[in-house]
This record gives sequence, structure tokens and C-alpha cells, in this order.
Amino acid sequence: MSLEKIRAMKGYQAITALTAYDCNIAKLLDEAGVDIIIVGDSLGNVVLGCETTREVTMQDMVRHTGAVRRGAVTSFIVADLPFQADASPEQALENSHLLIDAGADAVKIEGKPEIAKVIAANRIPVMGHVGLLPQTAEEFKVQGKDRVAAEKIVQEAKALEKAGCFAIVLEAIPASLASTITSLINIPTIGIGAGPYCDGQVLVINDVLGMYEGHTPKFAKRYAALNEDIRAAVKNYIKEVKTGQFPGDQHSYR
Ligand code: KIV
Repeated sequence: MSLEKIRAMKGYQAITALTAYDCNIAKLLDEAGVDIIIVGDSLGNVVLGCETTREVTMQDMVRHTGAVRRGAVTSFIVADLPFQADASPEQALENSHLLIDAGADAVKIEGKPEIAKVIAANRIPVMGHVGLLPQTAEEFKVQGKDRVAAEKIVQEAKALEKAGCFAIVLEAIPASLASTITSLINIPTIGIGAGPYCDGQVLVINDVLGMYEGHTPKFAKRYAALNEDIRAAVKNYIKEVKTGQFPGDQHSYR
């Protein structure tokens, strides 16, 4: 998957994206054929057990981006610039280089078109993000519901396109607003809680696999129930060890 292919998919073919944070899951997503893997700073919530994404560091992102790169051969990898990693244009650029060196094909930034412009001008592909911005949000709720708020999000999306972003994530906005943005800009929109009228969709992999039991938003469709499988497998293991069923001959050396 390449930047050119992703750009060319707008209006022709739905773009598929999922988050991943480790090598094994990245390999499975890659083999299944997902177009984009986002090493999101949702890492903090769903893997590291943090309250917010604000606790995720550049060190965390570099380590996990490397792990995803080692698992994914074909998918296009986008790594999040974590909270404060883009506090100034210089910091954003330096940290973007670190993520690219760790294996990302592109970086993602929440809002901040003026910083996105510096990253893009330095030939690092950058994905924008508008609507609900978890790094700075005070409340996790649908954004852009009234006319003024909706217009602000439209302008932010246009500014990110002008800054040189190759695609934009639209998070938690009404489907009609996502549809307007998708038709107004010439780069792909990737929706998460933004309804069907986007050029692509992204979900957090732990939600998809049923591996996260914290707050789950309405849009997070669950396609498997792996936590239940894990609990059942571990209970079975405990039972077999306690009763002497495991290890048997088959799992012992002679
Ligand atoms: O951190 C994250 O998981 C995200 C998603 C919107 C992809 O930014």
C-alpha cells in the first residue's frame, strides 16, 4: 500500500483502517488485507491501562511503531504524534522523523494545521484528525452538532488539506457533516463514529476483537469476543494443572 494508492482510492474504493500496537496483531491485520494500520495513541487506553491518551510518550510510540512495522509488510502504517510531541514545529518535525525511523510510513496529528504544514513541507506524509480530538477533549461526545461548531470543523478540515495532509480522520461527528467534508475536500476522509459517507473507516482493534471492557462508544462495532475466549482458556488451563491433567505424555519430554 502506498500514499498514491490511498489518495487514488477516494471516491472509488472504501479505505479500510484499524489500529494495532504490536507485531502479532499487525501481522494478522496485514495478512487479512487492511489498507492502513494506525498505531494510535489509544495505545494508552487499550494497552497500557492509562486513563487518557495524554499519558502516552514518544518512547511508547517509537517502541510500538517498531513492533507494528515488524509485523506488517504491506499495510500503510500511520503513527500518532502523542500529546505534546507536536508542541512546537521543531519538536513535531523531530518527533515525526523518529516515528518514520521506527517504521511508520506517515504520522498523524490532532488538529494543528500550522504544524501539519511544517511536517508536510519536510516531505513526511501527514494525516490530519478533526472532530473529537482525544488529546485535548474535555468531554467525550459527538462534535459539530450545531451550525457554528460544524462550520468550524469544516474549516479545520480544509485547513489541514491546504497544509498538505494526505488524508483526514473524522472522529465522532454527525454523518451529514462527514458527508459535507468528504465532498468538499479532495483528500480521503477516514471516519470513526462519522457514519457511512466517508472515504474509509477506522476502528480501534481492541473494540473490534472484544478485548476492551472500558468505555466503548456507540460506533465501536464488536466482531469477536476474544476476552471471553481468553477467560475460558485460562480457566481451563488452571483446572487442568490443579487436577494433574496437564502436562500429560503429549506435552512431556522422554
Ligand atoms: O489513537 C487512535 O486510536 C486514533 C484513532 C482515531 C485511529 O487516533
